[in-house]
Amino acid sequence: MRSSRSVALSGVVLVAISLLSCSHEAVVSDIYYGVSNYSFPEDFIFGVSTAAFQIEGAWNEGGKGESIWDTYVHEHPEYTPDKSNGDIAADSYHKFKEDVQLIKALGVKYYRLSISWPRLLPNGTSNNISTDGARYYRNLFEELLKANITPIVTLFHWDMPTPFMDLGGWSNPVIVDYFVDYARVAFNLYGDIIKTWTTINEPHQHCYQGYGADYFAPAIKSHGVGEYLCAHYLILSHAKAYHLYEKEFKPHQKGKVGITLDAFMGIPKDPRNFEDVLAVRSYLQIHFDLYAHPIFSAEGDYPTFVRQRINNMSLAQGFARSRLPYFTAEEVKIIRGSSDFFGLNHYTTYLMSPSEMEFSWSIPSMDHDAQVRMEQDPHWEKPGTEWLSVYPEGFRKLLNYVSDNYGREIPIIVTENGVGDKGQLKDYDRISYFNKYLYQLLLAIHEDNCNIIGYFAWTLMDDFEWSDGYLSKFGLYKVDFDSPERTRTPKLSVSSYRNIVQTRRINFDRYKPLPNKLNHF
Ligand code: NOJ
Repeated sequence: MRSSRSVALSGVVLVAISLLSCSHEAVVSDIYYGVSNYSFPEDFIFGVSTAAFQIEGAWNEGGKGESIWDTYVHEHPEYTPDKSNGDIAADSYHKFKEDVQLIKALGVKYYRLSISWPRLLPNGTSNNISTDGARYYRNLFEELLKANITPIVTLFHWDMPTPFMDLGGWSNPVIVDYFVDYARVAFNLYGDIIKTWTTINEPHQHCYQGYGADYFAPAIKSHGVGEYLCAHYLILSHAKAYHLYEKEFKPHQKGKVGITLDAFMGIPKDPRNFEDVLAVRSYLQIHFDLYAHPIFSAEGDYPTFVRQRINNMSLAQGFARSRLPYFTAEEVKIIRGSSDFFGLNHYTTYLMSPSEMEFSWSIPSMDHDAQVRMEQDPHWEKPGTEWLSVYPEGFRKLLNYVSDNYGREIPIIVTENGVGDKGQLKDYDRISYFNKYLYQLLLAIHEDNCNIIGYFAWTLMDDFEWSDGYLSKFGLYKVDFDSPERTRTPKLSVSSYRNIVQTRRINFDRYKPLPNKLNHF
């Protein structure tokens, strides 16, 4: 618990000043002068995150097998707006030593990265471990440790080996055992030096966009059925991998295993309208608690609201059974409590109100099940990516939602938070975003008593941003994708983030975006 860390808010001078001129490239709506009196606890974990497919490249080197993302973007080059793929990406496979130095320059002591399942196990199965793949990750982890940076490793960040997809991927129950086999290989190979694991990154986005829609690979559009099958076996896979570690590895390796969930926050479009308040609840329960409740609640299993809603909708739609599968009593038990921390990714917030049908929905679908219309306030800044408007207060609300619903005992690690830019080095909007969101996190720690122990900025460098290809740029470092060297250049946010990490405070002056203040950076 963080109660001892609460300090009184005193002397925080926040002066919001509207910019008179909007001509400068980095327009922010308000600027805060002064230093926050709240500081991040001494042992607070600051880090930066990446994912294998988004940065590694070397898609077929060292015996690597294909992942669903390789296969999908090769077969559908038109899928990304720039017709790109992850074949070379930021070429981190070859440049990992340089990347370790970039992480070091950020001043962070933690790096969250993922293992590419098909790089380690080319066919996905544990009977064939790639020597090159195994060596690559060993070298990378050792290089990080040499630089005094602790790697935190995700087993699955969306790049499933293609042969499993041919069998239905997460919708096929057999995947559970194969995922556990993969986890065993990773724990065996690296558990001596890796002490924090996350099993799966953002199961919701993966299942919702990839199984329910065609926005992400595998793009199977099995809306209303596929998302829930995917969620079901993925939650089970996570729990079984957790217990494998508990039983066979934890006693001697003494590490921790968790999962990373994602959530957009919702706020009622009209806070005085109870229907809008209910819409937020419906959204969060169907899109977030569906995953969180079985793992983190005291009672386990899917939330009652979700179970009833999907059962009723399925019935009304003439299905012979609920589209949401059932866990057995034994499964409920093994899933409940199967995470040593709450990994949380958060980027943005939506205004929510009830809706029976929207133009973009399919029937059945998760969207149609939730019956929630989502929009963003046009006044919120939108620095780089269509779906991402800046609403920092939503972050604090989400941290409170997690703490209120799942307790203050479970430590929360914010495993991703960040914003896209349009390719400029002077990324004032990102500096502003990190400062504002981190300030909300400080408030959640000190004023709301939320048990938040870490924060990872997304992301180290520009990368393959899934369906946006290389057009969305979330990196602290710019990558020149036109140069064969994939040259990295620090953006202004590098020194700003380093300053927060080193001082453990937010210095609001550092995001004043006026040219004559550039020496601040
Ligand atoms: C969350 C995902 O985990 C990550 O891969 C992605 O790049 C960011 N969101 C930004 O969209």
